[in-house]
Amino acid sequence: MDWGMQNRISKLIKPETGRAVWLAIDHGYFLGAVSKLEKPQETVRPLLGFADALMLTRGVLRNCIDAKTSPPVILRVSGGNSIVGEDLSKEAITTSIKEAVRLNVSACAFSIYVGAKYEHQTLLGLANLINEAQEYGIPVLAVTAVGKELAKRDARYLSLACRIAAELGAQIIKTYYCDDFHKVVEASPVPLVIAGGPKLRTELDALQLASDAVGQGAAGVDMGRNIWQSDNSVAMIQAIRQIVHKNASVSQAEELFNSLKK
Ligand code: 5RP
Repeated sequence: MDWGMQNRISKLIKPETGRAVWLAIDHGYFLGAVSKLEKPQETVRPLLGFADALMLTRGVLRNCIDAKTSPPVILRVSGGNSIVGEDLSKEAITTSIKEAVRLNVSACAFSIYVGAKYEHQTLLGLANLINEAQEYGIPVLAVTAVGKELAKRDARYLSLACRIAAELGAQIIKTYYCDDFHKVVEASPVPLVIAGGPKLRTELDALQLASDAVGQGAAGVDMGRNIWQSDNSVAMIQAIRQIVHKNASVSQAEELFNSLKK
């Protein structure tokens, strides 16, 4: 692997553990100002020290994140859709590779919508981004998006989507946890991280999700709402880290969460 590519990936997936805890705050690119992310800088400031990387758009990066103290950046470079638009799968490149280089990102992220109306457009978009990013040693994170069709997220569908992303050359894939998640891991020759998805009922549910995912072979989490929508977000991200990086059990992580929470 090219030195730059290897160096960037090792900033994202910690060589000491082979795992990753990333904080996703890119939701606004199609959802607008979601709850608790109205002022991203205020929400994320106390969390940044606990995130191995931050996933976001260039607009929030440039306006809300301090260049001197930012963790490694995973730049979302796809978009062009909205929650009230025609079809969420109608997504394409929004940000150039030159901009990604200028922002010194550790990876670019692009969503694919396998089986959706604009499947072809998003798969070719991913392939083109990988071709360009490869020139600069920048890894690409493929996101297996499902839009509003959350019920699609089973092992058969996610294995298909992850395998296609890997075949097109994505170096890392972000997907969803599901029953028989190990089958999704087995179908992918590159590391997988999971999204948290909409906020779960309790923090314990989110800790269980992270534990089940890494227990079945995920390289970690790229979690958003289940961290920063928690009333105890700083305790939550630390508890997630215990699971992902220290192999803590859910009850050990819950104990830590309870001891740290306000
Ligand atoms: C949207 C994304 C989000 O970053 C992702 O869903 C992670 O956030 P959450 O844990 O809140 O689901 O990639 O396509």
